[in-house]
Amino acid sequence: MPGPSKLADVAGYYTEKLTAHGQTAKGVDWNGEESQNLRFMQLSKIIDPALDDFSINDLGCGYAALHDFLVARHKRFSYNGFDISQAMIDAAAERHKGKANARFVMADTPDKTADYGIASGIFNVRLKQGDAEWLRHFETTLDELNRTSRLGFAFNALTSYSDADKMRETLHYANPAAMFDICKKRYSRNVALLHDYDLYEFTILVRKQ
Ligand SMILES: C[S@@+](CC[C@H](N)C(=O)[O-])C[C@H]1O[C@@H](n2cnc3c(N)ncnc32)[C@H](O)[C@@H]1O
Repeated sequence: MPGPSKLADVAGYYTEKLTAHGQTAKGVDWNGEESQNLRFMQLSKIIDPALDDFSINDLGCGYAALHDFLVARHKRFSYNGFDISQAMIDAAAERHKGKANARFVMADTPDKTADYGIASGIFNVRLKQGDAEWLRHFETTLDELNRTSRLGFAFNALTSYSDADKMRETLHYANPAAMFDICKKRYSRNVALLHDYDLYEFTILVRKQ
């Protein structure tokens, strides 16, 4: 796993985005709100619609746009947002001030177990780190998501099927089949690979029950 200084680089990268663009999709380095929400649509498929209450760990929460997304769709839930950027955590805390179901912690791992774990966009920007090192970090983080989620977890990553001329050296493009294989062998028999929503990325859902 990259040492703290390596993730500090990544945290600094995102802090700069927030400073430049504020609490907007661009402020967490997405192209726009439409694709940010499209990602949430895929990831939130992990949530059992029959549940009238659930808890969620959002690893790499940014300013916690996922909380807004969930409020519009679910009556009751409790939300824990984690981010390696203190500026993101401050923005999330300010945005969601007074909401009793939300808490925010600066961390690269959830500090408690929840029904679900969600991670949107945390495996994309690797800056100077090499493929092998980043892949180890990726897998260690998946182990943590698995350890801290009761019913399941979901994450996304840029796809190795991206057009070669659009790929950038500082980003990590994961092999979807390899990640599916890891999740199936390591975490659960019930794994879904979603690669049908028109972005250069994929989502994996790991259902544990
Ligand atoms: C692309 S942004 C997405 C933010 C949010 N999930 C959203 O979709 O609006 C990724 C965020 O994850 C944070 N991050 C990156 N790696 C992380 C890690 N290992 N643990 C916690 N946060 C991380 C970054 O600081 C950044 O705020």
